[in-house]
Amino acid sequence: MLDKRHSSPVIVALDFSEQREVEEFVERLSPDSCRLKIGKELFTSVGPGLVRTLVKQDFDVFLDLKFHDIPNTVAKACAVAADMGVWMMNVHASGGRKMMEAARASIDSTGGEKPLLIAVTVLTSMAESDLVEVGLNVSPDKQVQRLAALTQQSGLDGVVCSSREVQGLHTMLGDDFLLVTPGIRPTGSDVGDQKRIMTPADAMSAGSHYLVIGRPITQAADPVEMLDSINSEIGFAR
Ligand code: C5P
Repeated sequence: MLDKRHSSPVIVALDFSEQREVEEFVERLSPDSCRLKIGKELFTSVGPGLVRTLVKQDFDVFLDLKFHDIPNTVAKACAVAADMGVWMMNVHASGGRKMMEAARASIDSTGGEKPLLIAVTVLTSMAESDLVEVGLNVSPDKQVQRLAALTQQSGLDGVVCSSREVQGLHTMLGDDFLLVTPGIRPTGSDVGDQKRIMTPADAMSAGSHYLVIGRPITQAADPVEMLDSINSEIGFAR
């Protein structure tokens, strides 16, 4: 599996809408010092060409499209993403065991290096009342635990989880199950709209394997300097 823990665990969220902005930004980065995340906005705007370009430039690309559909459709979408050479991709755990197993089988049947496959459990935008409204009488914490365990049983490599959940999930699911954590703010940087935040060092010591960091790097006066300082804070030196 493509879990290269010797490389930087920082995944820079490319939350831009235009290819030109991304290209100008990425030009300053090196694949040795970070990985890159492409989400729904950028992918919908520019399509798979950019993914292929960044993969060709040797970047590890996390394709964050959170697939959620019938097993056959998700399996096929995963195969296409794997064929693009992405390093990591994700699905919604609430799509269920059959959907996750189909995604896993589809990736496992592709030749070459297999991308990491992780799941989103409960969106951090969902409060207990939102879960009740969709018929789930359960606390978000319990639902996260349930879906993370189901993700592991379905053979996936890990989950996206908030900094608040890292420690509990690490204890519950062990060190081999990857925890990918957004909501990271280096000391002194703007919190923005993130509510529960952790510093890079705290998230890593709580058990996180990869840190998704967007604006603190993309909006920094000097993104490379900010990335270098985050990498040294977490003890990753090139
Ligand atoms: O700019 P910032 O560091 O807040 O960006 C975090 C990235 O992680 C964004 O791409 C956001 O969509 C994503 N994310 C998140 N919280 C989640 C899941 C994903 O912030 N629960």
